[in-house]
Amino acid sequence: MPDTAPVADLTQTKPIAMVDLAAQRARIGRQVELAISRVLAHGAFINGPEVTELERRLATACGVDHVIACASGTDALMMGLMALGVGPGDAVIVPSFTFTATAEAVVLVGATPVFVDVDRATFNMTATALAAGLKAARAAGLRPRAAIPVDLFGQPADYDSLADVGRHEGVVLFADAAQSCGASYKGRKVGALAPLTATSFYPSKPLGCYGDGGALFTPDAELATRLRQIRSHGQGKHRDDIVRVGLTARLDTIQAAVLLEKLAIFDDECRARQTIADRYANLLGGSVDIPRLAAGATSVWAQYTVLSPHRDRIAVELKANGISSSLFYPVPVHAHGPYRHCPRADGGLAVTMQLANEAISLPMHPYLTPDDQARVAAAVRRAIA
Ligand SMILES: Cc1ncc(COP(=O)(O)O)c(C=O)c1O
Repeated sequence: MPDTAPVADLTQTKPIAMVDLAAQRARIGRQVELAISRVLAHGAFINGPEVTELERRLATACGVDHVIACASGTDALMMGLMALGVGPGDAVIVPSFTFTATAEAVVLVGATPVFVDVDRATFNMTATALAAGLKAARAAGLRPRAAIPVDLFGQPADYDSLADVGRHEGVVLFADAAQSCGASYKGRKVGALAPLTATSFYPSKPLGCYGDGGALFTPDAELATRLRQIRSHGQGKHRDDIVRVGLTARLDTIQAAVLLEKLAIFDDECRARQTIADRYANLLGGSVDIPRLAAGATSVWAQYTVLSPHRDRIAVELKANGISSSLFYPVPVHAHGPYRHCPRADGGLAVTMQLANEAISLPMHPYLTPDDQARVAAAVRRAIA
């Protein structure tokens, strides 16, 4: 039977979750338990050997010289901005159609986020949007220092064209790859696409741990040293050598041990995610606007997000059939109270506002079955019939 055929028993009501971590545990649960036991036995809960090993393996997998594991994606963003020396009076260009943390990190270092629109096809910041944001920053009397493109829903932004604008305007590209670790762009892996990249290992991310976690990637040895110092209270050569203001932002050794086991099956899981995305495209095409990949990009499909003017009806029908869905992001960041005063690019954020009203994310994880996908698609089609 071809993948596209709706073979499911559509009368089933077994819940379908957005992410099924239990299915992954059934595959590697024993290895994870052994890995955690090893940490309990050696007792190096902070900066243990698993942290160093994880950094080494991620660096190899992503083709980048330096990986600095840390306590969360938000810490990674904040540490990166601190290491770049971004602060009061500086502007950082960010998309508004993202998770709050992208802009939050900017405010936490005392700088100002300047919000820009995104592309409807890829959900990502474009070079044109970046240029508009730089203009708005200068008009507001701010010094543009950096831009944080977000690889939304797992697909990398168009880094070549963003880098052209960034170079010309003297701003650093700092990739928010919280959702895209494992994806690639023009044959290069996420982590090696910008001078600095942040990711998240939040449990529901494509590569997630069993708590909070994150990492930074950079080809720059000097920047990597600053990041390692910031990660641990600004300590230089030893504990009592404080060379800068830092944080407590280390990745727990137990989380690194979990991630090492998950990394062993990650490529396989990414392939499964692509198969599932292809199957959704076949099942849903023509009924809703399905997500598209830009030329040269792969995605890890952190979310499978479709667009429809009837998305509220779709959400109701899915729920009635025991199927989870999520709205990412019904309120764009610039519209939230703490960010309303921040500058926005001229021309407004029209695509962002459309996406906020039309986007709905469907269940997506490597263990989603063809039957479950057929049930999701049937419910989507019923909702808009
Ligand atoms: C785009 C984006 N940036 C940053 C973050 C923050 O990551 P964390 O939750 O690990 O702090 C997330 C997490 O959801 C995210 O999706």
